[in-house]
Amino acid sequence: MELRDLLLNLKIIMFGGKGGVGKTSCAASSAIWAAEHGRNTLIISTDPAHSLGDSLGVELPPGIPTPIEDIDNLTALEINPKANMEDFKSLTEINPLEDMGMGDMMGGMPLLGDLEDLTSMNPPGIDEALAFGKILEFIETEHDYDLVIFDTAPTGHTLRFLGLPETLSGWIGKLIKMRMRLGKMFGALKRMFTREEKKTDNSLEVLERLNQSIINAREDMTNPIKNSFVVVMIPEEMAILETGRLLNELIKYDIPVSNIIVNQLYQDTTELCDFCKSRREMQQKNLTKIQEIFREKLHKILIEVPLFKEEIREYEKLKEIGEYLIE
Ligand SMILES: Nc1ncnc2c1ncn2[C@@H]1O[C@H](COP(=O)(O)OP(=O)(O)O)[C@@H](O)[C@H]1O
Ligand SMILES: [Mg+2]
Repeated sequence: MELRDLLLNLKIIMFGGKGGVGKTSCAASSAIWAAEHGRNTLIISTDPAHSLGDSLGVELPPGIPTPIEDIDNLTALEINPKANMEDFKSLTEINPLEDMGMGDMMGGMPLLGDLEDLTSMNPPGIDEALAFGKILEFIETEHDYDLVIFDTAPTGHTLRFLGLPETLSGWIGKLIKMRMRLGKMFGALKRMFTREEKKTDNSLEVLERLNQSIINAREDMTNPIKNSFVVVMIPEEMAILETGRLLNELIKYDIPVSNIIVNQLYQDTTELCDFCKSRREMQQKNLTKIQEIFREKLHKILIEVPLFKEEIREYEKLKEIGEYLIE
């Protein structure tokens, strides 16, 4: 499917590739196009070094979906890993003494054993992982957006995320089991001491819901009529190698890819300086390779985008790059 059809029909589109190749510019430009073609669009940046707001030329408060003024149907969001971690902590902390009104006595000491196990299970970057989990949960619950576009972080980082639904749901699954075990045990103890009826603790439910959304999101992400990953690259040898690896990983995770954007191409004009001429030659050699490998062998649709004289920023420029991407 051409990018245009993806933008008109899918539920999720993810833009990814090496740092600095033009992911944010292409994602933002595509989001504007989709919004202007009547799709209520949310664009989400998952790159911890956010630049979506800068690209759109607007202030985006962290973690808050912000409607873009002057563009109907477009909302942008830069995720805020820190805030999500705080939310999640309250769900994972199991503090039965506190529940029994004895928290002060033990200084709110957490449970040993299982709980220590759980902390040691926290992989590095769990805060970002959870932020992503929350996003997945969000896109799986009732909302008004027709299309969610992801402006992702540079390759390695994003790949970690794509494998995350499994990791996260395994992790949350363990948490759920643990909570159920401990919950029963301490519920009984507590009733013995306090003769109180079962207190409603909905954190288990919240975890279960989160887990189910992540599983659903995983299904959507692998379904070519719902999601497509658009690879952005530049015509350089290193980018070819990296794109090859990225495609392999996407296959491994079952993520559909149909379009590859080859960005920042020097145009053939007679007024090119010597420096630009040799860069153009280098690029053309690589472009031929890209066409052989990615178009002929792997049957991807290539979208060629020229290098602009100016920086690609804000509405007018994003619209201009959109003409090459889509029209
Ligand atoms: N085709 C292009 N022509 C000129 N400048 C470009 C082009 N594509 C991207 N840029 C510029 O390159 C820089 C990096 O682009 P960006 O979209 O932020 O990349 P990424 O999100 O992949 O890091 C930005 O300053 C952007 O304006
Ligand atoms: Mg970016």
